[in-house]
Amino acid sequence: MALNSLILGLQWGDEGKGKIVDALSKEVHAVCRFQGGHNAGHTIKVNGHQTVLHLTPSGILHPNVNCLIGNGVVLSLEALDKEIKGLEEAGISFDKRFFVSSSCALILPSHISIDKVRDKKESIGTTGRGIGPAYEDKIARRAIRFGDIGNEQLLRDKIELLVSYHNRLLVELYNEDPHNIEDMIKELLSYKHLYDKYCTDTQDLLYKWVKADKPLLFEGAQGTLLDIDHGTYPFVTSSNTTAGGVSTGLGLGPKYIDKIIGISKAYATRVGEGPFLTELFDDNAKMLAERGREFGATTGRPRRCGWLDLVALKKAIFTNSVTDLCLTKLDVMDEFKSIEVCVDYKDNAPVFKIFDGWESSSEGVTDFSKLPIKAQEYINFIEDFIECSISIISTGPSRDQTITR
Ligand code: IMP
Repeated sequence: MALNSLILGLQWGDEGKGKIVDALSKEVHAVCRFQGGHNAGHTIKVNGHQTVLHLTPSGILHPNVNCLIGNGVVLSLEALDKEIKGLEEAGISFDKRFFVSSSCALILPSHISIDKVRDKKESIGTTGRGIGPAYEDKIARRAIRFGDIGNEQLLRDKIELLVSYHNRLLVELYNEDPHNIEDMIKELLSYKHLYDKYCTDTQDLLYKWVKADKPLLFEGAQGTLLDIDHGTYPFVTSSNTTAGGVSTGLGLGPKYIDKIIGISKAYATRVGEGPFLTELFDDNAKMLAERGREFGATTGRPRRCGWLDLVALKKAIFTNSVTDLCLTKLDVMDEFKSIEVCVDYKDNAPVFKIFDGWESSSEGVTDFSKLPIKAQEYINFIEDFIECSISIISTGPSRDQTITR
């Protein structure tokens, strides 16, 4: 029987999911996204060439893999069009293997304006992609959905109502310029080719694939600590980034998720505002940022860096029913004299266990027994603490720099 796997981040996103999804994609029938939008940025290095995907599932780089964007995703047609064009120019074909749910709520230019102006006041540090306001409209049952593009009159009526509301917020509450409704209708209709080619009933497709016993991969975006319910609220994104989001974001029951692969860096990073108990501000932070090239793939913002928080990781494993853990960017820790991990909290401050660093190279190692002994000890300690085995360890950005146990 084919196994369906879910890959998700166990921290604040940017755990290196893209590389693992890419590696596992070639063995599946389809890679499916279920939440988030083009706030995600998956950096993948293939044959020395770096690609960043914001919306398209990472499986697109494998010519025989189908890619699906489920109803739980909020969709910017402008971003989608741009990404498809860029990838097509690089020789990647979307023909007959790319499917987008007709139920996806659309991100409009006015959502982006609202997101940006609000973030100046509320300081969540959003990606400014309109994600929060688009999910707000979805929950308030007034969103424009991808399928609406096929019915011009319906689209007009819905846009007039929704953008009038957005304009009132922008003008009266935030002192900003309004959007021109007619321009927005025109712009949306200019993406009709996306509707014609890719808009479909993705749940129906998933039903057929499941019945035909095709293996599927569900690709999470962001990470557990950014989940709207289980993250560091209110400093979170506006979707369920955790395992529960798969069922609602694709229309597929939980029994079809066989394997849940959680990804964590060997340390921690966070972009944007919000609590980060193990954050570092010293030379160690600089070293993690430089060696790990910790700059946001979507916004280019420097990421905040710190030690691994095992208390939060253990909770994330429970939240998601993680069956397999993957530790990424181990090689980034190669030059540290000592390494700390958080094992408890006391009065809201982290309690650390201190390890000697291995101060030798783990880069590109593909066999666990060939890792420096102190790196092996670090990993063994993590496994014991979180009570979950680490089955994949990433030792560099390329596909082949991976230990599978
Ligand atoms: P939003 O998703 O743009 O609303 O941003 C909300 C929070 O989630 C901000 O702190 C962002 O920096 C963070 N965020 C959103 N997407 C990502 C991602 O793909 N990686 C890391 N952080 C993200």
